[in-house]
Amino acid sequence: MAKQLWNKGFEPDQLIEKYTVGQDRELDLRLARYDVEGSRAHITMLESIGLLTREELDTLLPALDDIAADIEAGRFTIEPGVEDVHSQVEFLLTERLGDIGKKIHSGRSRNDQVLVDLKLFFRDELRRIADATGRLFDRLIALSEEHKDKLMPGYTHLQVAMPSSFGLWFGAYAESLTDDMQLLLAAYRIANQNPLGSAAGYGSSFPLDREMTTHLLGFDRPHYNVVAAQMSRGKTERAVASAIAAIASTLGHMAMDLCMWMCPNYGFVTFPDELTTGSSIMPHKKNPDVWEIMRGKCNRLQSVPNELTVLTANLPLGYNRDLQLMKDIIFPATTSMVESLEMAEFMLRHITVKSGILDDPRYDYIFTVEEVNRLVASGVPFRDAYRKVGMEVQQGTFKPNREVHHTHLGSIGNPATAEIAAKMATLLAPFR
Ligand code: ARG
Repeated sequence: MAKQLWNKGFEPDQLIEKYTVGQDRELDLRLARYDVEGSRAHITMLESIGLLTREELDTLLPALDDIAADIEAGRFTIEPGVEDVHSQVEFLLTERLGDIGKKIHSGRSRNDQVLVDLKLFFRDELRRIADATGRLFDRLIALSEEHKDKLMPGYTHLQVAMPSSFGLWFGAYAESLTDDMQLLLAAYRIANQNPLGSAAGYGSSFPLDREMTTHLLGFDRPHYNVVAAQMSRGKTERAVASAIAAIASTLGHMAMDLCMWMCPNYGFVTFPDELTTGSSIMPHKKNPDVWEIMRGKCNRLQSVPNELTVLTANLPLGYNRDLQLMKDIIFPATTSMVESLEMAEFMLRHITVKSGILDDPRYDYIFTVEEVNRLVASGVPFRDAYRKVGMEVQQGTFKPNREVHHTHLGSIGNPATAEIAAKMATLLAPFR
């Protein structure tokens, strides 16, 4: 027996039901706690405007608490035949309390209900992503400090270019994450606005107190215009996805560097055997599968904004059921992002960095610019100094002086680690 909130006495075709509900029963479980939170705020507000009596509210709130406890304990399920989490919560209340349970939906639609759930859900997911990014950032900053004097080759066009350092390399990914954090914060601010009261998308003839529910749910402010509130479904997801894609791009790039530097031809970094994987045929192999999987997952995450854009492009104004399918795309993405950030932090705890890389004669020419600059500092015009060193390289007579002396802000000798850390702290503060 199908149990639709909208049942008007006919039995919907089972195939239609299966097709339209899709993955919702599983996906909506992640929204359950937020659905209860939204209902608590909504009915508290309904009582304040006289649409529920004090006694009704006092009966409903403990019943919602019981459902919340079931959710936290993993006992909550969405029964076969029930369309979604919103329906399940209302059915449970009606089953337990009778007619009072049927009163909670006044002045509300599943359209604003799912929006509230999603906003609260994204707010928490964005906090989780911010926390995990913050932990990876801290690890990178610590490694940058620890290895600040270890030189490594810097490349351009994949050709040996100029001296760099592990201090710079770790610090670069740390600072790059601060740029991503700006986007994550923007997504958080977009998500942190209250759509409740927009109902089906055009408001209600009840005098709903939207400031009150905004306060009760801890949102920054209402999403004022009821139509704009509905339009934020899709917009919010795309903002979240763009921020995730930015972090994924940084993380995927780092994973690529590490895959390359674990290659014995480079041999710049190693990880303990237990953190590498083997080959079924080649007994000597220690493969960087973790970083490869991370690179792949991060590439997939970068396709999420595009998937959402295509799914929602040119939808008519107002609620359309297509919007439901965004959950299938964005829910796994937030999970995957946190997993990869945590895995990266775990792996980097165990990284070993090679010392003395630039002592190898194969890197002799990496010191040519240092030599040119030394000549310039002693008064030789730059173009003449460049030509002199260039001719020495050409004739095979160049002898490197391996001393590296970079002191300006953000360079090998002055990587501005404290400034970068301060920048991240400012960006993380609004999430707390
Ligand atoms: N499962 C639906 C979704 O995620 C809930 C809202 C349903 N609203 C409706 N008018 N059918 O969009």
